[in-house]
Amino acid sequence: MTPGETPLLAGERDIAGPAKAGPAGPRGEFREAPEAASPSPGQGTTRGHVIVTRGLTKRFRSGQVAVDTLDLAVPRGSVFGFLGPNGSGKTTTIRMLLGLVTPSGGDCELLGVPMPGGLAEALPRVGAVVEGPAFYPYLSGAANLRRLDAADPSADRRTARERIALALDRVGLAAAAGKRYRAYSLGMRQRLAIAAALLGPRELLILDEPTNGLDPAGTREVRALIRQVAAAGTTVFVSSHLLSEVEQMCTHVGVMRTGRLVAHGPIEELRAGREPRIKVETPDVGLAAGVLAGLGLADPRSGAGEVSVALGTAAPDLVCAALVTAGVAVHGLAVLRPSLEEVFVGLTGEGFDVDG
Ligand SMILES: Nc1ncnc2c1ncn2[C@@H]1O[C@H](COP(=O)(O)OP(=O)(O)O)[C@@H](O)[C@H]1O
Ligand SMILES: [Mg+2]
Repeated sequence: MTPGETPLLAGERDIAGPAKAGPAGPRGEFREAPEAASPSPGQGTTRGHVIVTRGLTKRFRSGQVAVDTLDLAVPRGSVFGFLGPNGSGKTTTIRMLLGLVTPSGGDCELLGVPMPGGLAEALPRVGAVVEGPAFYPYLSGAANLRRLDAADPSADRRTARERIALALDRVGLAAAAGKRYRAYSLGMRQRLAIAAALLGPRELLILDEPTNGLDPAGTREVRALIRQVAAAGTTVFVSSHLLSEVEQMCTHVGVMRTGRLVAHGPIEELRAGREPRIKVETPDVGLAAGVLAGLGLADPRSGAGEVSVALGTAAPDLVCAALVTAGVAVHGLAVLRPSLEEVFVGLTGEGFDVDG
């Protein structure tokens, strides 16, 4: 929090003032740690990245290393999914980025400004929701935003009304602006928290587990909102322990495991990291396996009534034609692309579908 900024309600949140829009354009390469993409030291955050950390480390007094030599680079214009099981160091990283926790080692830059020294310069250009919203239950959504806006010294008082109306409108709460917070659904509550983080234009929106505790409808609302914010040009850094909740909207991901970054890069490269397979359902398993081998397709796996092989660069329609020509009764044919979930399980050794 910047000096002079009023601490908000009991929950931990960081909300700051106006920003300028910046040039867009995601870039970066998917690599697996320890060769994780990290800009060369001294190169600076540059125009290309909104968050850069080098060797960022947090060791708590207990001796626990929550974040271990983290090298992170978040491309401007991306929707960056910061993933990892509970306890893997996501919140601690975000708190260091926002100057809420002092790093034990390493460097970080936010919007090209070294932290924590540049907090006052960077924070007004960043909206953040960290660990759940806290609002007054008996005040309306609009009244809650008026309080928060009034607490922001960088916000122009004369334009408060428009700013609040715009923020409510952006998150689809204009119609519910006068409704008491306690009557809001979980999804509406989280959208109000995001509205609070978007009271001014932001270059970067940081959301820590924004879908945590939401029902499927609330999750969809938040996801749609994040897409809109990103489409309007704001880079979004969103953490989650549930891959499935962010997978569809992310352009880039970083995967944490016990404080270390185990993967980092464009989601498509992560997805492409695994070979597709082709699966044939047939009573003629032996015959089909022979045809597939004859086509040079490797890694056969047979089961009852089905056989699969690595597809490589082979065309599925030609594989099908070869099977049929050879007299294989093809009851079903599927190209299986491993889900990102499976890729993540391989990286972290844990499922992401475990809640809690
Ligand atoms: N203030 C603290 N003091 C001691 N240990 C902490 C503190 N905050 C977090 N930790 C520990 O650091 C690890 C990472 O926590 P956290 O960053 O909250 O992970 P995540 O957000 O990925 O769930 C956990 O093992 C947690 O218990
Ligand atoms: Mg957390």
